[in-house]
Amino acid sequence: MRTIRDFNLRGRRVFIRVDFNVPVKDGCVTDDTRIRAAVPTIQLAREQGAKVILASHLGRPKGAPDAKYSLQPVVSVLAAQLGVPVQFVPDCIGPEVEARVAALQPGDVLLLENVRFHAEEEKNDEAFARRLAALADIYINDAFGTAHRAHASTVGMAALVAERGAGLLMERELAYLGRALHAPEHPYVAILGGAKVSDKIEVIDKMLDVADAVLIGGAMAYTFLKARGVEVGRSLVEDDKLDVARTLEAKAQARNVRLRLPTDHVVGDVARPDLEPQTVPVTATPSDLAGYDIGPETVAAYRAEIAAARLIVWNGPMGMFEQPRYAAGTNAIAAAVAEAGAISIVGGGDSVAAVNAAGLGDKITHVSTGGGASLEFLSGLELPGVAVLKNPV
Ligand code: 3PG
Repeated sequence: MRTIRDFNLRGRRVFIRVDFNVPVKDGCVTDDTRIRAAVPTIQLAREQGAKVILASHLGRPKGAPDAKYSLQPVVSVLAAQLGVPVQFVPDCIGPEVEARVAALQPGDVLLLENVRFHAEEEKNDEAFARRLAALADIYINDAFGTAHRAHASTVGMAALVAERGAGLLMERELAYLGRALHAPEHPYVAILGGAKVSDKIEVIDKMLDVADAVLIGGAMAYTFLKARGVEVGRSLVEDDKLDVARTLEAKAQARNVRLRLPTDHVVGDVARPDLEPQTVPVTATPSDLAGYDIGPETVAAYRAEIAAARLIVWNGPMGMFEQPRYAAGTNAIAAAVAEAGAISIVGGGDSVAAVNAAGLGDKITHVSTGGGASLEFLSGLELPGVAVLKNPV
């Protein structure tokens, strides 16, 4: 696969698909991680004299303009990070866009409005892809977080631009996550959390092929526990996934992978905030309460696995960490991963938020900008936005 470094960019219209799908509140960007992550690629293009055109989606507008999902709030944030003005045009195709692109000078940066303001984007409509492609001499995809979507700006137009390649962020994401998938250091410990087994079946299955230990946290642990015959009170269980949990357990045994589940947890009732949470063994879960965090005995056991690891991948929180009373387990795992002295890769919005909230982001080897994309990649699936970059012209 070619990368942005392989092209002569001088004076060319370089169309960079970025993932600026950032949270916006009252017209302000509240987390600029994904914008910062795209800056090296944009700077490289500018320094080499490219006319830079940036495109992204933001949120899930219903295929029509919606001010709530405008990329306008990104302009000042990006301009501050680049140290140069950023132009903005209120559409991504059409005569005004074409005129603004034609007027670009080397080093200029033009941000197009949300590509999802056109329903054709998510349909990967060919005519729409052609109109986007007509803006570009060179197509660069730096939107790793959106590479699992086969949309017009990630796949359709890419196939239409002969000179296409990956940006620096895309390259970095694929290098780290690719290593975790294809050439992991051992001991390799995967930590998987989140609410539902159904979201993580493929990634757990794949991890059982490559990792030495898989540590399960979050509500999805209860489906595994119930499948083992443990009474989990009112904890969240996906009853239709008990067989899946048993199959995954059997695979772990057959492959000699340590599939670890919590042995203690913090139980309570989120509908009754007056009730003090208590820590109990999972085998002593009160029938009227639910588990919302892993307990200290589990933290200690998981910490020992993490401390011995040479490669750690973490995706998904250990509990309902957005509530401080149920955050201790997730925070302890964040600290253990940061201190481990191993190569550490953290992906998924919630685990990344936990690492950042604890001020530990710079102690993690690679914080992925991909949520769904990193999960699909780690499940061994080929991402359509990556596949199209690889195909020969
Ligand atoms: C993400 O935030 O995971 C990506 O930007 C993709 O967004 P989507 O799930 O709305 O396609």
